[in-house]
Amino acid sequence: MTVHIGVVGTGMIGRDHIRRLTDVVAGAEVVAVTDVDAELAREAAAGVGARALPTGQDVIDDPGVDAVVVTSWGPTHAEYVLAAIAAGKYVFCEKPLATTAADCLRIVEAEQASGRRLVQVGFMRRYDVGYQEMKQALSGLGPVLLMHCAHRNPSVPTEYHSDMAIQDTAVHEIDIIRWLLDEEIATAQVVVPKQTTRKFEHLRDPQVMLFDTESGVRIDLEVFVNCQYGYDVRHETVCEAGAVRLPDPGLLHSWKQRFGAAFDTEFTEWVSSVQAGNLVGPTAWDGYAVAVTSDATVEARRTGKTVSVRLKDRPAFYGS
Ligand SMILES: NC(=O)c1ccc[n+]([C@@H]2O[C@H](COP(=O)([O-])OP(=O)(O)OC[C@H]3O[C@@H](n4cnc5c(N)ncnc54)[C@H](O)[C@@H]3O)[C@@H](O)[C@H]2O)c1
Repeated sequence: MTVHIGVVGTGMIGRDHIRRLTDVVAGAEVVAVTDVDAELAREAAAGVGARALPTGQDVIDDPGVDAVVVTSWGPTHAEYVLAAIAAGKYVFCEKPLATTAADCLRIVEAEQASGRRLVQVGFMRRYDVGYQEMKQALSGLGPVLLMHCAHRNPSVPTEYHSDMAIQDTAVHEIDIIRWLLDEEIATAQVVVPKQTTRKFEHLRDPQVMLFDTESGVRIDLEVFVNCQYGYDVRHETVCEAGAVRLPDPGLLHSWKQRFGAAFDTEFTEWVSSVQAGNLVGPTAWDGYAVAVTSDATVEARRTGKTVSVRLKDRPAFYGS
């Protein structure tokens, strides 16, 4: 069965996912798209023979659309994800699930009320071979004690500010830490070390985030977004009986190079799971937990304090 897909937001990653769903993923066809920039939507639609529709709601309501991909700006995600749930359609939402924890919770509640999993969130690192091999290796190395992580970008635009290092960038590490450890982050703290001379007035760069998990695993995460030399994601997990690191992919310049294959696998699996009627990827609960952890980390940086991450109880609907 071909899954007929509607895409809301045909900007940079929306167009990349349309290409992926058309050229890479079997069993998928993009049939409708929209963007508030109608010309952008028309161009994207013409490239794959899809319909360009006026609004996201039109795409969701289109009877020819089986499943929806939301790749518009973050503040618009909650509205479209809730509309897709109301329409009973599967929805893949790029991160963030919503820009507030309260909106993430509304989605979690609406999905439970619908009675089945419909939402997947775009935490694509879980599909990276290096992280998958790390997760497998951890099962043979005894209790995890520490994680050392770094996320370096060559540069960011001047409008990028200190909170975005957490809300836009560190959220990927926050999700992957939770996924690797199968537990939640309990506290967050942020240390601002010696700064690059290339920092902006409104951007502390680098920042070092310190997390403790529920079981006491200590994690340090360097986020350095104007590092100049390349796109460099590092992760070492230290256990009682050994340590495991991500392989070194050599010098790369963008997240597209580093995680292109992970995006391909993510969408291949999403389409298969939609066909099977059984979503298995990152859940709305993951989107909510990451949002709450991200909010606590922002508060930690602003106040200089260690801040507790206070999640609601995890509903049985989302498994253990
Ligand atoms: N998983 C990842 O690593 C990753 C990477 C890049 C971007 N993203 C996420 O994907 C989303 C889009 O990012 P982008 O880089 O493509 O941004 P972008 O600005 O290039 O594209 C967003 C598009 O959405 C459109 N849009 C905004 N509001 C809309 C609305 N109400 N209805 C329809 N279209 C609307 C804009 O006109 C724009 O074309 C963001 O949430 C971003 O965080 C995730």
